[in-house]
Amino acid sequence: MKKDFISIADYSRNELEEIFDITKELKDKTKRGEEHHVCKGKTMSMIFAKPSARTRISFETGMYQLGGYALYLSPNDIGIGKREAVKDIAQVISRYNDIIMARLFAHNHMEELARYATVPVINGLTDYNHPCQIMADIYTVKEHKGRHTDLKITYIGDGNNIANSWINLAAKFPLHLVICSPSGYEPDPKTLEYARSQKVSTIEVLSDPAAAVKGADVIYTDVWASMGQEAETEARKKIFMPYQINSELMRQADKKALVMHCLPAHRGDEITDEVIDGPQSIVFDEAENRMHVQKAIIAKLLNG
Ligand code: CP
Ligand code: NVA
Repeated sequence: MKKDFISIADYSRNELEEIFDITKELKDKTKRGEEHHVCKGKTMSMIFAKPSARTRISFETGMYQLGGYALYLSPNDIGIGKREAVKDIAQVISRYNDIIMARLFAHNHMEELARYATVPVINGLTDYNHPCQIMADIYTVKEHKGRHTDLKITYIGDGNNIANSWINLAAKFPLHLVICSPSGYEPDPKTLEYARSQKVSTIEVLSDPAAAVKGADVIYTDVWASMGQEAETEARKKIFMPYQINSELMRQADKKALVMHCLPAHRGDEITDEVIDGPQSIVFDEAENRMHVQKAIIAKLLNG
Protein backbone atom coordinates (compact mmCIF):
# COMPACT_ATOMS: atom_id res chain seq x y z
CA MET A 1 0.00 0.00 0.00
CA LYS A 2 1.43 3.37 -0.97
CA LYS A 3 1.50 5.99 1.76
CA ASP A 4 0.73 9.71 1.43
CA PHE A 5 1.56 12.74 3.56
CA ILE A 6 -1.78 14.51 3.78
CA SER A 7 -2.17 15.06 7.51
CA ILE A 8 -0.10 14.51 10.63
CA ALA A 9 -3.13 12.66 11.98
CA ASP A 10 -2.29 9.78 9.59
CA TYR A 11 1.14 9.24 11.15
CA SER A 12 2.18 7.64 14.41
CA ARG A 13 4.49 9.42 16.82
CA ASN A 14 7.24 6.92 15.92
CA GLU A 15 6.88 7.59 12.20
CA LEU A 16 7.11 11.33 12.82
CA GLU A 17 10.25 10.81 14.94
CA GLU A 18 11.68 8.77 12.09
CA ILE A 19 11.11 11.69 9.70
CA PHE A 20 13.08 13.91 12.13
CA ASP A 21 15.94 11.39 12.16
CA ILE A 22 16.07 11.36 8.36
CA THR A 23 15.84 15.17 8.35
CA LYS A 24 18.91 15.43 10.59
CA GLU A 25 20.87 13.00 8.45
CA LEU A 26 19.98 14.77 5.18
CA LYS A 27 20.47 18.25 6.62
CA ASP A 28 23.94 17.31 7.93
CA LYS A 29 24.88 15.90 4.54
CA THR A 30 23.59 19.02 2.79
CA LYS A 31 25.65 21.25 5.12
CA ARG A 32 28.77 19.14 4.54
CA GLY A 33 28.20 19.29 0.78
CA GLU A 34 27.95 15.49 0.62
CA GLU A 35 25.97 13.99 -2.22
CA HIS A 36 22.81 12.21 -1.07
CA HIS A 37 21.04 11.02 -4.19
CA VAL A 38 18.66 8.73 -2.34
CA CYS A 39 15.87 9.41 -4.87
CA LYS A 40 18.05 9.18 -7.97
CA GLY A 41 16.09 9.37 -11.22
CA LYS A 42 12.74 9.90 -9.46
CA THR A 43 10.36 12.58 -10.69
CA MET A 44 7.77 14.70 -8.88
CA SER A 45 4.94 16.83 -10.26
CA MET A 46 4.16 19.86 -8.11
CA ILE A 47 0.60 21.11 -8.59
CA PHE A 48 -0.01 24.66 -7.38
CA ALA A 49 -3.56 25.99 -7.33
CA LYS A 50 -2.37 28.89 -5.11
CA PRO A 51 0.79 31.03 -5.14
CA SER A 52 3.96 30.02 -3.26
CA ALA A 53 7.58 30.95 -2.64
CA ARG A 54 8.93 28.62 0.07
CA THR A 55 6.94 25.53 -0.87
CA ARG A 56 7.92 25.67 -4.51
CA ILE A 57 11.56 26.59 -3.96
CA SER A 58 12.15 24.13 -1.13
CA PHE A 59 10.48 21.17 -2.84
CA GLU A 60 12.07 21.84 -6.22
CA THR A 61 15.55 22.38 -4.77
CA GLY A 62 15.16 19.50 -2.34
CA MET A 63 14.15 17.04 -5.04
CA TYR A 64 17.18 18.07 -7.11
CA GLN A 65 19.48 17.53 -4.12
CA LEU A 66 17.97 14.05 -3.69
CA GLY A 67 19.01 13.23 -7.26
CA GLY A 68 15.50 13.58 -8.65
CA TYR A 69 13.61 16.09 -10.75
CA ALA A 70 10.59 18.25 -9.90
CA LEU A 71 8.26 19.96 -12.32
CA TYR A 72 6.31 23.06 -11.42
CA LEU A 73 2.67 23.27 -12.54
CA SER A 74 1.31 26.77 -11.94
CA PRO A 75 -2.26 27.75 -11.04
CA ASN A 76 -2.79 28.31 -14.80
CA ASP A 77 -1.68 24.87 -15.91
CA ILE A 78 -3.95 22.02 -14.80
CA GLY A 79 -7.08 23.74 -13.55
CA ILE A 80 -7.56 20.91 -11.07
CA GLY A 81 -11.22 20.30 -10.31
CA LYS A 82 -12.22 22.81 -13.03
CA ARG A 83 -10.55 22.07 -16.37
CA GLU A 84 -10.00 18.48 -15.32
CA ALA A 85 -11.50 16.19 -12.68
CA VAL A 86 -9.25 15.55 -9.68
CA LYS A 87 -9.47 11.78 -10.13
CA ASP A 88 -8.46 11.99 -13.78
CA ILE A 89 -5.37 14.12 -13.20
CA ALA A 90 -4.43 11.87 -10.25
CA GLN A 91 -4.34 8.84 -12.53
CA VAL A 92 -2.61 10.67 -15.38
CA ILE A 93 0.24 12.04 -13.24
CA SER A 94 0.68 8.61 -11.64
CA ARG A 95 1.60 7.28 -15.11
CA TYR A 96 4.41 9.86 -15.48
CA ASN A 97 5.81 10.57 -12.03
CA ASP A 98 6.92 8.72 -8.90
CA ILE A 99 5.42 11.21 -6.44
CA ILE A 100 3.07 14.23 -6.39
CA MET A 101 3.16 17.37 -4.28
CA ALA A 102 0.06 19.57 -4.37
CA ARG A 103 -1.12 22.89 -2.97
CA LEU A 104 -4.90 23.08 -3.32
CA PHE A 105 -7.88 24.98 -1.96
CA ALA A 106 -10.31 22.24 -0.88
CA HIS A 107 -8.95 19.60 1.46
CA ASN A 108 -11.34 17.02 0.01
CA HIS A 109 -9.65 17.54 -3.36
CA MET A 110 -6.33 16.64 -1.71
CA GLU A 111 -7.90 13.48 -0.28
CA GLU A 112 -9.40 12.61 -3.66
CA LEU A 113 -6.04 13.19 -5.36
CA ALA A 114 -4.41 10.80 -2.90
CA ARG A 115 -7.19 8.22 -3.27
CA TYR A 116 -6.93 8.04 -7.06
CA ALA A 117 -3.16 8.49 -7.42
CA THR A 118 -1.19 5.27 -7.38
CA VAL A 119 1.92 7.19 -6.27
CA PRO A 120 2.42 9.02 -2.94
CA VAL A 121 0.84 12.47 -2.55
CA ILE A 122 2.29 15.18 -0.32
CA ASN A 123 0.07 18.00 0.90
CA GLY A 124 1.76 21.37 0.33
CA LEU A 125 -1.18 23.26 1.96
CA THR A 126 -4.95 23.25 1.72
CA ASP A 127 -7.56 25.54 3.25
CA TYR A 128 -7.65 23.03 6.13
CA ASN A 129 -3.99 22.27 6.94
CA HIS A 130 -0.28 22.60 6.13
CA PRO A 131 1.44 19.52 7.57
CA CYS A 132 4.90 20.05 5.97
CA GLN A 133 5.01 23.50 7.56
CA ILE A 134 4.26 22.23 11.05
CA MET A 135 6.82 19.43 10.70
CA ALA A 136 9.45 22.04 9.80
CA ASP A 137 8.25 24.25 12.65
CA ILE A 138 8.52 21.65 15.39
CA TYR A 139 11.85 20.45 13.98
CA THR A 140 13.12 24.05 14.26
CA VAL A 141 11.87 24.27 17.84
CA LYS A 142 13.70 21.00 18.58
CA GLU A 143 16.94 22.46 17.20
CA HIS A 144 16.62 25.59 19.33
CA LYS A 145 15.22 24.13 22.54
CA GLY A 146 16.81 20.69 22.42
CA ARG A 147 13.40 19.02 22.57
CA HIS A 148 10.09 18.94 20.73
CA THR A 149 7.82 17.91 23.59
CA ASP A 150 6.76 19.40 26.92
CA LEU A 151 6.83 22.95 25.65
CA LYS A 152 4.24 25.69 25.73
CA ILE A 153 3.43 26.72 22.17
CA THR A 154 1.18 29.74 21.80
CA TYR A 155 -0.36 30.41 18.41
CA ILE A 156 -1.94 33.84 18.12
CA GLY A 157 -4.22 34.79 15.25
CA ASP A 158 -6.60 33.19 12.81
CA GLY A 159 -7.74 29.63 13.53
CA ASN A 160 -6.63 28.64 10.04
CA ASN A 161 -4.72 25.82 8.30
CA ILE A 162 -1.62 26.49 10.41
CA ALA A 163 -3.57 26.44 13.67
CA ASN A 164 -5.30 23.19 12.65
CA SER A 165 -1.94 21.62 11.88
CA TRP A 166 -0.55 22.57 15.30
CA ILE A 167 -3.59 20.93 16.87
CA ASN A 168 -3.02 17.76 14.85
CA LEU A 169 0.61 17.75 15.98
CA ALA A 170 -0.47 18.10 19.62
CA ALA A 171 -2.38 14.84 19.20
CA LYS A 172 1.00 13.12 18.68
CA PHE A 173 3.55 14.95 20.86
CA PRO A 174 2.89 16.06 24.43
CA LEU A 175 2.72 19.85 24.35
CA HIS A 176 0.87 22.65 26.04
CA LEU A 177 -0.76 24.22 23.00
CA VAL A 178 -2.60 27.52 23.29
CA ILE A 179 -4.57 28.85 20.34
CA CYS A 180 -5.53 32.48 20.86
CA SER A 181 -8.04 33.80 18.32
CA PRO A 182 -10.77 36.41 18.20
CA SER A 183 -14.28 35.12 18.67
CA GLY A 184 -15.61 33.59 15.45
CA TYR A 185 -12.10 32.79 14.14
CA GLU A 186 -11.33 29.73 16.26
CA PRO A 187 -9.77 26.62 14.70
CA ASP A 188 -11.70 23.64 13.36
CA PRO A 189 -13.84 22.18 16.19
CA LYS A 190 -13.62 18.58 14.90
CA THR A 191 -9.82 18.75 14.86
CA LEU A 192 -9.85 20.11 18.40
CA GLU A 193 -12.19 17.35 19.54
CA TYR A 194 -10.02 14.67 17.91
CA ALA A 195 -6.76 16.03 19.36
CA ARG A 196 -8.19 16.42 22.86
CA SER A 197 -9.61 12.87 22.72
CA GLN A 198 -6.06 11.54 22.22
CA LYS A 199 -5.18 12.86 25.71
CA VAL A 200 -1.60 13.55 24.66
CA SER A 201 -1.46 17.33 25.15
CA THR A 202 -3.20 20.14 26.96
CA ILE A 203 -4.93 22.25 24.31
CA GLU A 204 -6.47 25.56 25.27
CA VAL A 205 -8.40 28.00 23.13
CA LEU A 206 -8.19 31.53 24.52
CA SER A 207 -9.05 35.00 23.27
CA ASP A 208 -6.73 37.22 25.35
CA PRO A 209 -3.22 37.50 23.81
CA ALA A 210 -1.59 38.86 26.99
CA ALA A 211 -2.80 35.81 28.96
CA ALA A 212 -1.88 33.45 26.10
CA VAL A 213 1.80 34.46 25.87
CA LYS A 214 2.50 34.06 29.61
CA GLY A 215 5.19 31.41 30.07
CA ALA A 216 5.18 30.42 26.39
CA ASP A 217 8.32 28.83 24.94
CA VAL A 218 7.17 29.67 21.42
CA ILE A 219 4.95 32.48 20.18
CA TYR A 220 3.69 31.81 16.66
CA THR A 221 1.59 33.82 14.28
CA ASP A 222 0.37 33.77 10.68
CA VAL A 223 -1.44 36.11 8.30
CA TRP A 224 -4.91 37.25 9.25
CA ALA A 225 -6.34 36.64 5.76
CA SER A 226 -5.10 33.47 4.08
CA MET A 227 -4.80 32.82 0.36
CA GLY A 228 -8.35 32.81 -1.00
CA GLN A 229 -9.59 35.26 1.69
CA GLU A 230 -8.13 38.41 0.13
CA ALA A 231 -11.57 40.10 -0.06
CA GLU A 232 -11.79 39.94 3.75
CA THR A 233 -8.39 41.59 4.35
CA GLU A 234 -9.60 45.01 5.46
CA ALA A 235 -12.46 43.72 7.61
CA ARG A 236 -10.15 41.21 9.30
CA LYS A 237 -7.51 43.90 10.04
CA LYS A 238 -9.94 45.68 12.36
CA ILE A 239 -10.86 42.46 14.19
CA PHE A 240 -7.32 41.10 14.49
CA MET A 241 -5.33 44.26 15.39
CA PRO A 242 -5.41 43.44 19.15
CA TYR A 243 -3.73 40.11 18.21
CA GLN A 244 -0.64 41.73 16.69
CA ILE A 245 2.70 40.38 17.93
CA ASN A 246 4.51 43.59 18.89
CA SER A 247 7.04 44.72 21.51
CA GLU A 248 4.30 45.49 23.99
CA LEU A 249 2.91 41.96 23.80
CA MET A 250 6.44 40.53 23.90
CA ARG A 251 6.98 42.33 27.22
CA GLN A 252 4.25 40.10 28.69
CA ALA A 253 6.17 37.00 27.58
CA ASP A 254 9.30 35.22 28.71
CA LYS A 255 12.46 36.89 27.41
CA LYS A 256 13.60 33.55 26.02
CA ALA A 257 10.38 32.86 24.11
CA LEU A 258 11.03 32.08 20.45
CA VAL A 259 9.01 33.90 17.79
CA MET A 260 7.85 32.02 14.71
CA HIS A 261 5.88 32.75 11.55
CA CYS A 262 5.39 30.40 8.61
CA LEU A 263 5.80 33.35 6.19
CA PRO A 264 4.90 35.19 4.03
CA ALA A 265 4.44 37.82 6.78
CA HIS A 266 2.43 40.98 6.49
CA ARG A 267 4.79 43.19 8.43
CA GLY A 268 2.92 45.78 10.45
CA ASP A 269 -0.22 43.64 10.59
CA GLU A 270 0.11 40.34 12.48
CA ILE A 271 3.75 41.02 13.41
CA THR A 272 5.84 44.18 13.68
CA ASP A 273 9.28 44.73 12.18
CA GLU A 274 11.01 44.95 15.56
CA VAL A 275 9.68 41.52 16.56
CA ILE A 276 10.21 39.63 13.30
CA ASP A 277 13.70 41.16 12.92
CA GLY A 278 14.44 40.88 16.65
CA PRO A 279 16.70 38.45 18.53
CA GLN A 280 13.88 36.07 19.53
CA SER A 281 12.75 35.50 15.95
CA ILE A 282 13.72 32.21 14.28
CA VAL A 283 11.60 32.67 11.16
CA PHE A 284 14.42 32.09 8.69
CA ASP A 285 15.67 28.91 10.38
CA GLU A 286 12.04 27.80 10.17
CA ALA A 287 11.85 28.63 6.46
CA GLU A 288 15.13 26.78 5.79
CA ASN A 289 13.94 23.67 7.58
CA ARG A 290 10.99 23.36 5.21
CA MET A 291 13.45 21.98 2.68
CA HIS A 292 15.26 19.59 5.03
CA VAL A 293 12.06 18.12 6.48
CA GLN A 294 10.39 17.79 3.08
CA LYS A 295 13.41 15.96 1.68
CA ALA A 296 13.00 13.49 4.54
CA ILE A 297 9.29 13.10 3.78
CA ILE A 298 10.00 12.47 0.08
CA ALA A 299 12.77 9.98 0.92
CA LYS A 300 10.54 8.14 3.38
CA LEU A 301 7.62 7.93 0.96
CA LEU A 302 9.76 6.78 -1.96
CA ASN A 303 12.14 4.47 -0.11
CA GLY A 304 10.03 3.30 2.83
N1 CP B 1 5.08 29.03 4.35
C1 CP B 1 4.76 28.73 3.07
O1 CP B 1 4.15 27.70 2.77
O2 CP B 1 5.18 29.65 2.17
P1 CP B 1 4.74 29.76 0.65
O3 CP B 1 3.26 30.06 0.64
O4 CP B 1 5.56 30.89 0.08
O5 CP B 1 5.02 28.45 -0.03
N1 NVA C 1 -2.50 30.61 6.34
C1 NVA C 1 -1.67 30.97 5.22
C2 NVA C 1 -0.43 30.14 5.22
C3 NVA C 1 0.53 30.44 4.10
C4 NVA C 1 1.76 29.57 4.13
C5 NVA C 1 -2.45 30.77 3.93
O1 NVA C 1 -3.13 29.75 3.80
O2 NVA C 1 -2.39 31.64 3.07
